[in-house]
Parts: sequence; C-alpha cells; structure tokens
Amino acid sequence: MSISRLLSTLSLAGLIGLVAACGTVHRSAPLLERGVVAAPESQAAEVGGEILRRGGNAVDAAIAVQFAVSTTNAIGAGIGGGGFMLIHDPDAGDVVALDYRETAPDGARRDMFLNEDGEVDALLSVHSALAAGVPGTVRGMAALHERYGTLPWAELIQPAIDLAEDGFRVDPWTAGKIAEYGAKFAAVDERFREQIEFQLYFRGGLEDRMSIPDLAKTLRRIAERGPDEFYTGQTADLIVEEMDRGHGLITKEDLASYRPVWREPIEGQYRGYKIVSMPPPSSGGVILIEFLNMLETFDRLPLHSPEQIHLQAEIAKRVFADRAEYLGDPAFADVPVGALTNKEYARARAKGIDLKRRTDPGSIKAGDLPVRVDTDGQTTHFSIVDRNGLAVSNTTTMNTGYGSGIVVDGAGFLLNSQMNDFSAKPGVPNVYGVTGSEANEIAAGKRPLSSMSPTMVYSPEGDLVLVLGSPGGSTIISTVLQVILHSIDYDRSLAEAVDLPRFHHQWPPLLPETDPISIEDDGRYALARSTLDALMELGYTLDEVEPIGDVQAIQIRGRDVTGVFDRRRTGGVAYQ
Ligand code: DON
Repeated sequence: MSISRLLSTLSLAGLIGLVAACGTVHRSAPLLERGVVAAPESQAAEVGGEILRRGGNAVDAAIAVQFAVSTTNAIGAGIGGGGFMLIHDPDAGDVVALDYRETAPDGARRDMFLNEDGEVDALLSVHSALAAGVPGTVRGMAALHERYGTLPWAELIQPAIDLAEDGFRVDPWTAGKIAEYGAKFAAVDERFREQIEFQLYFRGGLEDRMSIPDLAKTLRRIAERGPDEFYTGQTADLIVEEMDRGHGLITKEDLASYRPVWREPIEGQYRGYKIVSMPPPSSGGVILIEFLNMLETFDRLPLHSPEQIHLQAEIAKRVFADRAEYLGDPAFADVPVGALTNKEYARARAKGIDLKRRTDPGSIKAGDLPVRVDTDGQTTHFSIVDRNGLAVSNTTTMNTGYGSGIVVDGAGFLLNSQMNDFSAKPGVPNVYGVTGSEANEIAAGKRPLSSMSPTMVYSPEGDLVLVLGSPGGSTIISTVLQVILHSIDYDRSLAEAVDLPRFHHQWPPLLPETDPISIEDDGRYALARSTLDALMELGYTLDEVEPIGDVQAIQIRGRDVTGVFDRRRTGGVAYQ
C-alpha cells in the first residue's frame, strides 16, 4: 500500500485542500456523513455496505460488490466478463480509469464472423464459443486491490462465495429474466444448442432462492490461490476445455497474457461542470463529451419539448456517425480523441442543425476532422462512495444477457459474448444496431469498442457531485447524458433525474428512409402525447422499446450523500 493510501485510510483524506485532477484543479471532497453503495441487486448492495461498515474503503467495497453481482446478477455481470471503472481519489488528487475489458483471442481474425458469401453470421458472435473475448474481471479486480485495497483479497470474495454456496434470494425481476432467457437459449439455433447448458445451471432461479455450487468452488479457489488461479490455474484449464468442446479460440496463452490497463479518463466541460468519463476502447466518454459540447452551443430548451428531443436526435445522428467511423481500441487504431472532444469541432459540426427541420440520417456522414490528434442486453453498473470521498463508478458486462449462454462446465460461470461489439463487417450493425469501420474491426489481442460510460460530474467549484453509469448497449450514452442534463440543466433531485423518461437516437436507421427515436414502452416513462405527435409531424418514427438503461447513481451535496437505484429494474442502496 502506498503512503498516500495509508494516510487516506487513517481518515486524513478529505481534509486536504487543493488537488490536481486530469491536469485541472479541483478540491478534494470533504469528509462525508456516510458512505453509500448503489447497485442493481440489493444483496450485492448490502455486501458493499457491510465492507464499508467493516472499515473497508470504496474500492474494497467495489471488489466485493463485483464478485457479489457476478453471483446474484449473472445476467449482466460475471467473472467470465469484463468492464470499466473510474476511481476518484481525493487523496492522490486524480481520477483514474481501469480498463478490464475483454480482448480478442490470438486466433481471432477480421473476417471470422463472415460466412462463405461474405455475409455476417451474427449468431456466431453471440452464442458460439467464438463469441467470448478473454475475460478481464478477475485480473481487473486484482489490479484494483493492489493499488487501493485495504482489506485482504479473500475477505472481499467471501461474501460472493457465501451467496453462491448458501444460496441467494431471487427477486421477481431476476426470476423473470431467468425464465425468459432459459426459453431463449432452449430455442437457440441448433448449431449452438449442445454447448449452452444455461438451463442446467440456472434452473434454481425459477424458484425464489438459488445457489451456484460450482461457482462457489471457483470463487473459493480464486480467494485462496489469488487471481492467477483464473488465468493459469484450474479455472484456466476448465475454460480451455470448454473452448475445445465448442471449437472456441481462447487458449492457455491468451488467458495467461491477459492484462487490465490503467488509463487516463476523458474530461470535458459542460456549462461550467466538469464531466469525467471512460476513454477508448469505450466510445462512452468521447461521445458523451462531443454530445455535450454540441448541445452547449444551443440555448436550453424546455425539458421533453419536441424541440429538445429533436435537437438531441440531430446531435445523436452526428456523434454516432463519428463513433462508427473513428472509434476503436487505441492500441490498434488511431483514435482522434482530442479532435472529437474539441469545442471548435463541436461548434462546426452543430452548424448544420436546424431546430425546425429534420436531417435525413442517410445524408449524415462522419465529420471532417481538421486536426487528427494522436492520444494514447445486459450490463451492471454500480456506484460507491466512502466517507473519505473515495468514489468508484463501475460498469461491467457479459454483453448480451447471460453472455453467450455457455457455462464453463465445472466452473459455474458464463462466458461473455463481447466479440459482437467488434464490427464484423464495415457498415453492418451489431446487436445494438451500431455500425463500425476499420477502427473497430476484429484483430488478435484487440479490445472491442464499447459504449459503457462510468462517469463522474464535478461542480463549477470543483466538488464531485455525481457518480453514475448504466447498462443498455449504445443507449448507455443517451442514458448517462440525460440523467446529467436532468440534474444540471433542469435542476432535478437525483431520484427525479433518474426517474424521468428517457429517449435515444443513434443515427444509422436499420430501415432506409426512416429516422427512428426510441422511446420507453413502460407507461410510467411515457412522454406527452403532444410531444410525440409533434415529433412524428417532423418526420420521425417512434420506436417503443423496453425501459432504457438502469442507472445506479450517487449524489454528493456538501457532506450529504444520497444513493439511488433505478426503479426500471431491481436494485438496492446500502449505507455505511
Ligand atoms: O460494451 C458495450 O457497450 C456493450 N457490450 C454493453 C452491453 C449492454 O450494456 C447490454 N445491456 N443492456
């Protein structure tokens, strides 16, 4: 443990005056009334609360919650997956990003999801053993623990072992999802049916309690032997055996060489607030900042008026076109982060927007970047802040619900389907309807482009005021953006900001000559009929979708801290 971290645990954090973050200066958070955990599943939230009460810091709690959601919320989190985390450290005075995203195995090739006719075989990138990237979660948590952890590794995994072994409550939302996906996996294309043993492992989920004994054993090995157990030990052997059964690509070498990456977050300003979010290989931070930069060039419009929704749809068309063209893993593609997040670029790009007329999405192309700047179905977001102001924003995923549906036999966890986040062929949409180009084509060792946007917002005075994030594939960016706008532009409490209706546009229409805006089909989140009529009058088509996003967020006001979970799904908040 570093000296500064030690000092932090001695509760000196928060008393220190001015600190630098990401090249700018903001004040460290004051000592807060209490710590809080907002998680999408209540037993996992409680695990985090208990770690904080035991004297662990926010990162200790995050590691414990990560393993706990990997057990209780397998639809969107798992040790067979990966994710991204932001950590705001008031003591060291910075925000750092941890990338524990999956990587393409060494045997992966650009055209691996194309059939003989050169067409994309989409199911192959979602349900076969080829769908899985090399999982990042366990080494991600280990890297965090090494840098920030104060409680022993095994102690942080124990609550998840207990949940997997002794059983956990299955809430109605989760039971519904297990039934829904069970039916879906049972009816999957017969090429994949034999390898998908979802029904076998998750049959307990159809009752109100379930346990996952094989997962308990795997977690116990990881707790006792350390993270390398997953990458070079018995768990690695079990993963490779599963790959052999399904002709997958992940080898022992792929597992042994997996590394998480510490990155510098993306930073932007919006009406005086500082927004910090995830850099590539997520598109989240870049697109969020580009969006906000364009929005800032307009006057604030009444919330949920046709004009406001139209303006945001017009901006979305432009930023998602840029996403498709320019974004990918920075280790493989030259991602022009600086140019895309530049305010001048946003001003020029926003010039073509007419508040009275719709732009045909077919006419939208990626923007001309004047300067190329070289810089280096289901998901789970949780947010945690401890009393010392150490804050964690973490989004983790299996990609589609329960990932590929393939359980590593004998190990009790599912494999992700993250390979679908690559662009299998230029211009052909993935399961989220987003397209990509060369920047996001498949290559050995490369990380697929993401939309996950763990985010922190700082007040004009420099105080951390919001910690948030969401699942939802490409809609993540719209969700995070709108909760920020509800809070900053429309001055809503956090609970209201999360609860207000959301909408989404992402540019490439799946059907030609259409211009769809997604709206939520749940009546609780309905926009006014007059607003919808006005949008249709402008020529938009309205696409009713399941509730958009699942935000777990924390708001800090002075010493007061409030956690909120999204009532669109299930979830919980636990206090220190
Ligand atoms: O990384 C991404 O952007 C996607 N794999 C996230 C998937 C997701 O959020 C699904 N949730 N509903």
